[in-house]
Amino acid sequence: MDRRYRTPLFAFVSLLLLGGCADPGADTADADAAPIACEPDLVESIDMDRTLGHIRVLADEIGPRVASSRAEREAAEYIARELEGYGYEVEIQEFPRDQVVSRIEVLEPVNLRVHPATGRIDDTPASEYFQLTGEEGITAEVVDCGEGACPAEAEGAIALFAQGDSDAGELLAHAAEVGAVAAILHGDDWRRHLTSVEADDAVLPFVTVNVEAGEALRDAGGARVTLHVEFFDTSQNVIATRRVEGDPDAPVVIFSAHYDSVEQAPGANDNASGTAGMIELARLYATVETDVELRFAAVGAEEVGLVGSRYYVSQLPDHEIERVAANFNTDMIGTAGELQTQLFVNTLDGDNVVARSARVARDRLELPEERMRAPFERGASDHVAFHEAGIPAANFIWRDPETIDLEPWYHHPHDTPDRISADRLSTAMSVVLLASQQVICDAGAFRDEVPAALER
Ligand code: BES
Ligand code: ZN
Repeated sequence: MDRRYRTPLFAFVSLLLLGGCADPGADTADADAAPIACEPDLVESIDMDRTLGHIRVLADEIGPRVASSRAEREAAEYIARELEGYGYEVEIQEFPRDQVVSRIEVLEPVNLRVHPATGRIDDTPASEYFQLTGEEGITAEVVDCGEGACPAEAEGAIALFAQGDSDAGELLAHAAEVGAVAAILHGDDWRRHLTSVEADDAVLPFVTVNVEAGEALRDAGGARVTLHVEFFDTSQNVIATRRVEGDPDAPVVIFSAHYDSVEQAPGANDNASGTAGMIELARLYATVETDVELRFAAVGAEEVGLVGSRYYVSQLPDHEIERVAANFNTDMIGTAGELQTQLFVNTLDGDNVVARSARVARDRLELPEERMRAPFERGASDHVAFHEAGIPAANFIWRDPETIDLEPWYHHPHDTPDRISADRLSTAMSVVLLASQQVICDAGAFRDEVPAALER
């Protein structure tokens, strides 16, 4: 891609970063080219209580934030309020995204929390195969039907099935036959086991839950629940911008983090952690003097294929994309996993300006080399969307340095705030903050002073 605007300016920034320059501008003899004021100790101002508070709101209070769901929207509104509070110009950018979403409210016993998943039928549009309950849901007693034999009391009730040999379509047909009003299925592969149901078999609303939740409902003996199965068609990004007054062509640095989660997963690490870290960095950057336009993009619908970030990038005009110096994407930056001790800086174009600035940050923080791997080639998060547009981008994520594995509770109901490490979270935030400061300060200082030698 032709990157006329960016090439000389950021080639120069890159040279600085390659040289491991600890103090932006210190290696340049020209005093006039000194960087604009950059808070040298912004890192000291990171407030972990605030950051952990955001994680608790997103993962505990709001809970699983499935793409397009009401909970995802609620999270977006929370993030927008926070960013607006720091003085940013904030837009909730909506985009189309279809999804059937389910929810179970347990009325009795009151302290039982159950997160359902939505059974799927391969390649069939959700709107065509699902029996919906409407916003009011279906309220009834749960009656245990074992692996496929409902008692007479199932009439008018919600049938609870354990996954056995019968296929899900047969179970649903049986439940309908005995007059059940809805069904809940539980099993090991609760996220997949309905994929073989034919559209004609979807005779009543159904959801799937994991074994733990299914057994809890069964053992409660006569639990009373409201089951919601609803169709939604919109997701959204939250974009906070701080423009440079009087300079519509200023370089831009974009921070991004997805705030949606997968079904059943409160998503404390994936990715309330990256979202909370980004919100806190936005707070710190809100008052810093800079000649660089700052954007904070909390993106939706990542878990269903980077839909939000790709939509955001698709809406940027070319001349705006050309102004973007870098994208810092935080995704899973707070795990307490025993083995996830290395911060990976994932890129798709090798050693770009973000990876280099991260190494500079590591040195300035005096982190041992083995604490960070930069760069590492890997996609699977929103930096991909920025990279596809030609923007130097990287994703920050803790992994096991030996196996490259993520924590065992990845995409699982156990991805909760008590499995967040404040220490890892603050280390990752410090790296991203210092690295981005380096890029921002250098870009601001040298944007009008590109050395002739670097002009092409
Ligand atoms: N938070 C993860 C990040 C991640 C990165 C996971 C690399 C695994 C490897 C992200 O939300 C995620 O789960 N990504 C999906 C792919 C995405 C395109 C739907 C994945 O890796 O399965
Ligand atoms: Zn994920």
